[in-house]
Amino acid sequence: MHTKKDLTKLTKPANITPTYARSALTENVPKYEMREQGMLPDTVYNLINDELMLDGNARLNLATFVTTWMEPEITKLMTQTFDRNMIDKDEYPQTAKIEERCVNMIARLWNSPKNEAAVGTSTIGSSEAAMLGGMALKWNWRARQKQQGKPTDKPNLVMGINVQVCWEKFCTYWDIEPRFVPMEPGRYHLGVDEAIALCDENTIGVVVIMGSTYDGSYEPVSKMNAALDKLQKRTGLDIPIHVDGASGGFVAPFLQPKIAWDFRVPRVQSINASGHKYGLVYPGVGWIIWRERQVLPEDLIFYVNYLGGKMPTFAINFSRPGNYVIAQYYNFLRLGREGYRRIHQASQDVALYLSSEIANMGPFELITDGSDIPVFAFKLKDSIINKVNYTVFDISERLRDRGWQVPAYTFPKNCEHIAALRIVVKEGFSRDMAEQLLKDLRRHLDWFAANPSHLPKQTGSSFSH
Ligand SMILES: Cc1ncc(COP(=O)(O)O)c(C=O)c1O
Repeated sequence: MHTKKDLTKLTKPANITPTYARSALTENVPKYEMREQGMLPDTVYNLINDELMLDGNARLNLATFVTTWMEPEITKLMTQTFDRNMIDKDEYPQTAKIEERCVNMIARLWNSPKNEAAVGTSTIGSSEAAMLGGMALKWNWRARQKQQGKPTDKPNLVMGINVQVCWEKFCTYWDIEPRFVPMEPGRYHLGVDEAIALCDENTIGVVVIMGSTYDGSYEPVSKMNAALDKLQKRTGLDIPIHVDGASGGFVAPFLQPKIAWDFRVPRVQSINASGHKYGLVYPGVGWIIWRERQVLPEDLIFYVNYLGGKMPTFAINFSRPGNYVIAQYYNFLRLGREGYRRIHQASQDVALYLSSEIANMGPFELITDGSDIPVFAFKLKDSIINKVNYTVFDISERLRDRGWQVPAYTFPKNCEHIAALRIVVKEGFSRDMAEQLLKDLRRHLDWFAANPSHLPKQTGSSFSH
């Protein structure tokens, strides 16, 4: 026997309001001050997740060099290790060991000679790695100058004007005169003779890029080395090279193993690369390796004991996620050299196919074709630039109609008149998707032809990669 309950005496469940009828989702949520009360987890999940739908689709982002696809297993592994702080080497000794193994694998990938003991570390990306590499150059130069009783107040760094912004930051933050080799029509990265002309006794080093951000091209590391040798013979100046291999550091060893750009080149003192670019890891990991422990000045290394142990560190940050390093290790084990080669070869095949199709369309001229890293830049032909009713900025904007993100930007000093589009091909961008992109590009060219009153747009959103 059961008795009918008095409903008024029953306690109500805590929250029976349907998700999208809750106040947080029916009212405007304050954006710039913290609310007094919190929200239920699923309410706030939906609130943020919905807003993020307005972000571009990362898989259609052909502007970024950074990884936008990884195997699902890695999500599991990274989720399980979100709590690993990379700096807690004593508390997470296995994560530290994994970092050490990655440093070893990368040093060997970059042909560290058998008789040299390379040293290195993970970083948050190539920018931090570049800061560390640049600091070592400055400290070593200063020590040399002091030893010879020479002034130490005017260090300079020689590099192409095409350097990524991290090098401009480095020079500003560490009070170094940046000496930029300008571009000239037909040469869109560092010129060796031009770089030599800028070197003097205050030059802390020359930065040579493997995979220029502007057009994906490799700069001539070996030729720079030979020219610096000659300079030394002539003047006694002994200037080291730092290679910015942000992208190419994880491409050249697989696709162009014969190009000597790494520790096979004697003046290469240090190399940085982004694990999160062609190292194939989601954004959050970079690497730097020095040729030998001796080229790393002792006073840049700090030893902390408050984590237990006595751990040497050379880093800008203290705490940093450890799971990105774990993800890098996953890829090294999962793919091996063969896997990296196949993935990058597939990307390069797509890049070469796309660039040749674009070159055949008519209005475009290739600046590069994707045969260094799988990245290429192209522009409107000079012969049509003032005759058509569109610019590269219009094309970039119109490609957005189906979500494609293809940046348009102008080149730096001496080549400001060149406005280009750039396509970065990486893992996850198939030949089939390339066909879809080409179809859309042709559709837009047809649209411009059918709309003669359209006025060309002279500038676009700023280029910041
Ligand atoms: C040549 C070069 N150097 C450095 C960087 C900075 O790398 P990160 O984004 O890993 O800090 C980039 C990024 O695009 C780059 O292309």
